Amino acid sequence: MNVTWKSPSNIALIKYWGKYGRQLPRNASLSITLDEAHTITSVTTEKKRTKKASCSLLFEGKPNPVFEAKVQDFLRSIQKDFPFLGSQHLLIETSNSFPHSAGIASSASAMSALALCLCSLDILHGGKLPEDFFRKASNYARLGSGSAARSVYPEFSVWGKTNLVPLSSNQYALASPVHYHANFNDIQDTILLVSRSEKSVSSRAGHALMDKHPMARIRYRNAVVRLEKLLSVLTTGDWSAFASIVEAEALELHALMMTSDPSYILMTPNTLDIIQRIRDFRERTQLPVCFTLDAGPNVHVLYPYYEKRKVRNFIQKELLPLCQDNQALYDHMGRGPIQIFE
Ligand code: PMV
Repeated sequence: MNVTWKSPSNIALIKYWGKYGRQLPRNASLSITLDEAHTITSVTTEKKRTKKASCSLLFEGKPNPVFEAKVQDFLRSIQKDFPFLGSQHLLIETSNSFPHSAGIASSASAMSALALCLCSLDILHGGKLPEDFFRKASNYARLGSGSAARSVYPEFSVWGKTNLVPLSSNQYALASPVHYHANFNDIQDTILLVSRSEKSVSSRAGHALMDKHPMARIRYRNAVVRLEKLLSVLTTGDWSAFASIVEAEALELHALMMTSDPSYILMTPNTLDIIQRIRDFRERTQLPVCFTLDAGPNVHVLYPYYEKRKVRNFIQKELLPLCQDNQALYDHMGRGPIQIFE
């Protein structure tokens, strides 16, 4: 048996930062699913004698023992839910559309692609048809990497229990809960590669530092307030309100890192220079454009499709020179994962 899924990365507008239990979020988050930044994963099953879940993995066509061990541990941790893992060895081939050292988090696309493959294979091996295939895939993607839960849906996705979204859960994400305004059709996301070096502090360590963070309570409250505002702004189409919520979230994420114990800083001088230039450009031109940040120095520039030409001109002239090797990835809101049939 063989299945292949292509699954995208996503960028959070309302951030998930702080967790408990097994990858359960302290607050609900909301993201845009991307398109160009994606992982394609193909899994073939082979009958075996041993009972423990096992896999061999090729990353970008080459063996990758570190990644393989991580995936094997993950498979063993969920083996009781996927009985076929006890009789089949998995041959996994996975590759990303973006270069490994680009500083783009690959875990969301990689873990969602793998979870989708496992859910498809489960059905092929006689498992029960789930009530909601994508919800199930989202749950297992989350166990691999929290933010991956949101990658299985198109456009906007919400993950985490909130009274604002019926059926929302800490276990899985849901597709866009609102009918968003046409101003947000095909949002553009240019990812400025400010630094391609390895992060000094991992997301896992960053989440853990939230456990004793003096500002944790207020942070989780802020996330609820901003999610409520953002859900409403998505329906009204107000880019200026969108920009202020999204930028506040990005800066709060980094403020939490800076005020953790121990403190750390992932932004670089060029990150700040870019942020200031985006704000100056917005002020000067009144164009709808804003930024968000992941847990790293790279800047995501967000703008509507209908202002693509003007904003890209600005990016090319003013922002690319501040990126490592003048590099950026031009991405946009995507339609979610697709299964590939050979
Ligand atoms: O999925 P993780 O554990 O790598 O955490 C992701 C955290 C952020 O990217 C900073 C925010 C988010 O919601 O994606």
